[in-house]
This record gives sequence, C-alpha cells and structure tokens, in this order.
Amino acid sequence: MIFKNDDLFSRTLITGSGGMIGSYVDFGIKTDRKILDVTNLKQVFRVVHKYRPRAILHLAAFIGVGQCEQNPEQAYMINSIGAYHMALAAKEIGAKFVYVSSSVVFDGKKDASYTEEDAPNPQNVYGRSKHIGELVVQGMLKDYLIIRSGRLYGGDPNGAKNLVAQFIRQLSQEEIKAASDKMCNLTYARDFVAELKKLITENKKGIYHVVNKDACSPYDIAKEIVETIHAKIEVVPVTEAFAADALRGNFEVIGVKKLKSLRSWRKALREYLEVEILMSKGNAAMQFKK
Ligand SMILES: NC(=O)c1ccc[n+]([C@@H]2O[C@H](COP(=O)([O-])OP(=O)(O)OC[C@H]3O[C@@H](n4cnc5c(N)ncnc54)[C@H](OP(=O)(O)O)[C@@H]3O)[C@@H](O)[C@H]2O)c1
Repeated sequence: MIFKNDDLFSRTLITGSGGMIGSYVDFGIKTDRKILDVTNLKQVFRVVHKYRPRAILHLAAFIGVGQCEQNPEQAYMINSIGAYHMALAAKEIGAKFVYVSSSVVFDGKKDASYTEEDAPNPQNVYGRSKHIGELVVQGMLKDYLIIRSGRLYGGDPNGAKNLVAQFIRQLSQEEIKAASDKMCNLTYARDFVAELKKLITENKKGIYHVVNKDACSPYDIAKEIVETIHAKIEVVPVTEAFAADALRGNFEVIGVKKLKSLRSWRKALREYLEVEILMSKGNAAMQFKK
C-alpha cells in the first residue's frame, strides 16, 4: 500500500528534531526536548494524545560513543527508556514507528559488511543503549521501521560532534591526525533523510540499512576534505586518533542488501563541502591555509 504522502508526512511527529538529522527533515510536527522530553512518560503521552500522529519519527537520542561511556545512566535513560516511552505511545494510538539506529550495534569484528540479517553484538554503552531501543521497538510493535546508518554528517560544523565537522574544525592546524585502521560508513544526512522519506512513503516495515556507498576510514575522509577544498595541510594516518575509537570495532561497516545503494560517500561529501560549506562565506570553521 502506498500512503497519500502529504497527509502522512504532515501528521508525523518528530522527536529530537533540533538535532543534526532533524535539520534536514522538511515535514511533520517537529518537537524538541523542551516540548517533548522522551524520558518523561507523562509528557510523552500528553504530546502524543494532543497531535494523534499517524507516524512517529524518533530521532531524540544521546549520541557519541565517548560521551555515552562516561554517562551510561543518561545513555540508557534517553536511548533505551526514551525509545520504550515513544513506542508505548505509538502502540496506544496505532501510529507507525520509525526508529533511527546505528552501525554501532555491531561488534566490528567481521571482515565483511554487516547485513540487515546479522545479529547485533554491541561493544560499548552507546551501541548497547541503541540496541535495547531496537529490541523494544521490535518486541512491542508490528508497524515499525528500524533504519540503521553510520557516521552521519551535515549542517553547520561549528560545535557539531560528527567526524566531518571535527576534521573541518582542525583545518587551521598544522596537520590532521586521522585513524587509518578503522573502517566505517560515512553518510550525508541529506541523502539519509531523502531515503528515509522514500521508505515511509512505500510503507516499508522491518530493518533497513541506509548509508552512502563504499566503506572508508577516518583518514580517507580527512584526505577527501583536504583535497576537495585545496587546503595546504598534511593528513597523518594514525591508529585511534580519538579516545572513543578504542571502544569501536575495526570494521564497523554496514552494507545495504534490501535497497538500491545510495551514491558514493565521496560524491556526497564533495557536494556537502561545495554547497553547504564553501558557499557559506564567513564560516568560522573554515579558517585554513590555502
Ligand atoms: N549522527 C550519527 O552518526 C548517527 C548514526 C546512526 C544513527 N544515528 C541516530 O540518529 C538519531 C539522530 O541523531 P543526530 O545525529 O541528529 O543526533 P543529535 O544531533 O545529537 O540530535 C539528537 C537530538 O535529540 C535531542 N534529545 C536528547 N535528549 C532528549 C530527550 N530526553 N528528549 C527529547 N530530545 C532529546 C537532542 O536535544 P539537545 O540538543 O537538547 O540535547 C538533539 O536535538 C539518533 O537516534 C542517533 O542515535 C545517528
């Protein structure tokens, strides 16, 4: 069954819409933590009853492997219990539930990409808290969509936690150190949201992987950024450039088996840099030697 999109999208409630992915979402009833704190069950029910959405896009989360490791209670409260609260409300009103999950639910020990059928085996608090969210959704609901992605980026790099933003902010330094021994997916949030909309429109159910095509290392990503913007800065390959890298497997790569692949990560990254970064003059993050 294909939904009448306008009605479905305008009646989709979005949690955590003030975040990076939310900034690309151009539909729905957008809520942030002030309006809808997913850890507050009473508030969850009040808001869900007020809007009676046909679908819930649950984006609210406490993200970041390092931060979750340091604040496990917060991670489980927001990512696991928060997902439970939202799923409970969706069940009561019969709304479709869309949960965005992560490649971090896998252990990164396989030497090929993880498919939608592979069993999760998270190795850190962030991964475990997101995996519990997946289990809750699968156990409680019939009409759900779990969309896993990896290393999303987009929007304003100032203050953002994603890998691309971190490298952009390092462009004014003498060199960028980037891990060459960790493979991951890099995914442009704009491409991700476009594919997510397609999956909702087609009324897909179950687990889907959505990433830009081909795996890469943080070193590959930093090199691509430096080359695209013609910065005179050396990119140095290292092992474990960030403390949180130690908590991730070496091959945290998911493959797309059930859908047509998105464009390659390089193509998407070049577009982001050219259209969203280089053309936005005066971006403080873009101070670098040419
Ligand atoms: N970024 C990635 O690489 C990636 C990869 C795979 C999956 N995902 C998943 O995609 C989703 C969105 O990620 P994102 O990159 O957009 O993250 P983000 O930029 O950190 O956005 C998350 C949003 O959730 C909000 N939030 C936190 N605690 C909340 C609470 N208790 N109640 C309501 N809202 C709360 C945050 O608000 P505050 O600013 O007030 O904290 C923030 O606006 C998450 O579920 C994440 O696990 C992300």
